[in-house]
Amino acid sequence: MQSESDRLRREGKRIAVVPTMGALHRGHTSLIQLARKHADVVVTTIFVNPTQFGPTEDLARYPRDLDRDSTLAQAAGTNILFTPSASEMYPEGFKTFVSVEEITSVLEGEIRPTHFRGVTTVVAKLFNVVKPHVGVFGQKDIQQVHVIRRMTQDLDFGIELVVGPTVREVDGLALSSRNAYLTPEERSRATALYRSLRGVADLVQAGERSVGTLRDRAEGILHASHPTRVDYVAFLDSGTFRPRESIAAPGILVALAVRYGTTRLIDNEFITI
Ligand code: PAJ
Repeated sequence: MQSESDRLRREGKRIAVVPTMGALHRGHTSLIQLARKHADVVVTTIFVNPTQFGPTEDLARYPRDLDRDSTLAQAAGTNILFTPSASEMYPEGFKTFVSVEEITSVLEGEIRPTHFRGVTTVVAKLFNVVKPHVGVFGQKDIQQVHVIRRMTQDLDFGIELVVGPTVREVDGLALSSRNAYLTPEERSRATALYRSLRGVADLVQAGERSVGTLRDRAEGILHASHPTRVDYVAFLDSGTFRPRESIAAPGILVALAVRYGTTRLIDNEFITI
C-alpha cells in the first residue's frame, strides 16, 4: 500500500482515504462518493480494529462480509480497497499507541475508556500506510471527528479532514451496523433518538435558549421510548466540544447515546439558531 501510494503521489495524484470497519451501508458509501469529489484516487479501508473494542464489547459478533463490502465499495467509487489482517496491523511485539487527552475521557470516552486510544492508533497507522492528502469521516461519530482532528493537528499529519453528513433511514434513525442487533420492537422505539434531536431543534426554532428546558424536552422524548438506559444527552460547543450552558450563534451541538436492550446507539445534530 505504501509503495502504491508513493507511486500515485509521484504521478501527482491526490489520494483520499475512507477508513471503515466494513459492514458497509449507505452512510459509508456516501463518504466514498464524497471522497471522489476531493481526490483522484479513493482508498477505502476495511479493518475491524480490535484495539477500539472494550473487553465486553461486540468485537467477535461484529458483522463481516468482505465480498458484499467489496462490491458496495467499488460501486460507490473506490479505486483501492485496503483490507489488512489483525496480525499485519498489530504484529507480535506491537507496543505503541497514540492517545489524545481530555476530549477522549468524556461522553463516549467515559463509557468506553480505551475506545479512542484504539481509534487514534489505527487511524494514525492508516494515515501512515495510505499516505492520503484527505481523510473522510462521518458526522455520525462526531466525537471521533473531534479526536481525529486534534490528533491530525497535534502530530502534524498534514492531512485535510472532510466530514460527511449523517445518512438516515426514512424515519430518521441514523444508519449504523449496530441497528441490525435491534429487535423489530426496539427498532421502532429507537426512532426516539432522531425525534428528540428534532424536538430540540423545534424548541430552538421557537426561540428557546435555555439548555435546561431543551434537555428536558430531549430526555422526555427519549424516556417515553422506554430505553434500557440513556447514557448521555450533551449540549456542546461545536468548536471546542465543551459542554454549553446556554445557546448562542451560530448554534449548538446536541449529542446522544441511548441503549435498547444490549444495543447502544449514538446520534447528534448541530442545531443552528
Ligand atoms: P465505522 O463505524 O465502520 O464507520 C466508518 C465511517 O463511516 C466513520 O467515519 C463513521 O462516522 C461513518 N458513518 C457511520 N455511519 C454513518 C452514517 N449513518 N452516515 C454517515 N457516515 C457514517 O468509525 C469507524 O468505523 C472506526 O472507528 C474507524 C474510523 C474506521 C477506525 O477504526
